[in-house]
Amino acid sequence: MSKIAILTGGGDCPGLNPVIRAVVRKGINEGYQIIGIKNGWKGLMENDIMPLNLDTVSGILPKGGTILGTSRTNPYKKEGGIEKIRDNYAKLGLDALIAVGGEDTLGVAAKLIKDGITNIVGVPKTIDNDLSCTDYTFGFDTAINIAMECIDRLHTTAESHHRIIVVEVMGRHAGWIAVEAGIAGGADIILIPELPIDIEQVCSLIRKRHARGKTFSIVVVAEGAQFKEGTMVTKEQKLDEFGHVRLGGIGEILAQEIEKRTGFETRVSVLGHIQRGGSPTAFDRILGTRFGVKAVELVKNKKFGRMVALSGTKIIDIPIEKAIEVLKTVDMELYDIAKEFFG
Ligand code: F6P
Repeated sequence: MSKIAILTGGGDCPGLNPVIRAVVRKGINEGYQIIGIKNGWKGLMENDIMPLNLDTVSGILPKGGTILGTSRTNPYKKEGGIEKIRDNYAKLGLDALIAVGGEDTLGVAAKLIKDGITNIVGVPKTIDNDLSCTDYTFGFDTAINIAMECIDRLHTTAESHHRIIVVEVMGRHAGWIAVEAGIAGGADIILIPELPIDIEQVCSLIRKRHARGKTFSIVVVAEGAQFKEGTMVTKEQKLDEFGHVRLGGIGEILAQEIEKRTGFETRVSVLGHIQRGGSPTAFDRILGTRFGVKAVELVKNKKFGRMVALSGTKIIDIPIEKAIEVLKTVDMELYDIAKEFFG
């Protein structure tokens, strides 16, 4: 019986379990044996696996996170990592591997394919929605719905206390969460990594609102946003195995600056991992399910080196390396729409 393995790597997000379930259900329907690799590339290096069958995936559709676990392990940064992957892939008798991840996990997948080590099909995931060649990644819709609800809640307290509330959302290089949650939540200003923050302009928009009688404002800022003259605000300088720093703190700095310059009382709320947790929305469950089914079809048709993607309303497939070439940053036409509501 042909064997397919599936792994989930990088930051978790809602919608991973629907993909796993769909791969298992469709795989079994097509006569494959499916196994799960635990904790991303780390599990393939360590031969850490779990059986996947109708029982193990029963009931996981509404569950956030990933039943396989995940890690940010980069086998190209580990001594002997690639040899271990080659050996375990052969030892497990795999015919194909479905790698579910963002730019880092899929970047490793693209290298492994180039090095002739594994047959891989990719599935794009990230709450940041910054992978190219797919209109959406699953996890994003859930994240923006959570952030929107938080912004709604912050509105009521900001209004009662006549305060400015700065809401820091995730988004390392791209401000998709900030823009879409900000539009949906009626933010008064949205700041994103793609555009440097002009603090004077932010303060003058807030003053303008106050001048027309609004005594509160909601400012949404993506964690990767930077001041005109500055660099990204980080929690620590240490780089992970993919060269990323841990971001966080721009909201606090921004809030202090706004209060100092405008004299209006300002608070900050950092949404953090709340945006990545919990049950996926219907959109993410459906997208994950469609991606999982399509991934097995690609394996069946031996279309290795391809990634499933959403184009309009259709699920298509594209070369994995195309998706990781450049990050998909915020569409400025969408940002212009958000700007109509600033101030
Ligand atoms: O890549 C998704 C993401 O949620 C980013 O928005 C964020 O910067 C990062 O992961 C946080 O990573 P970690 O969970 O490792 O702290």
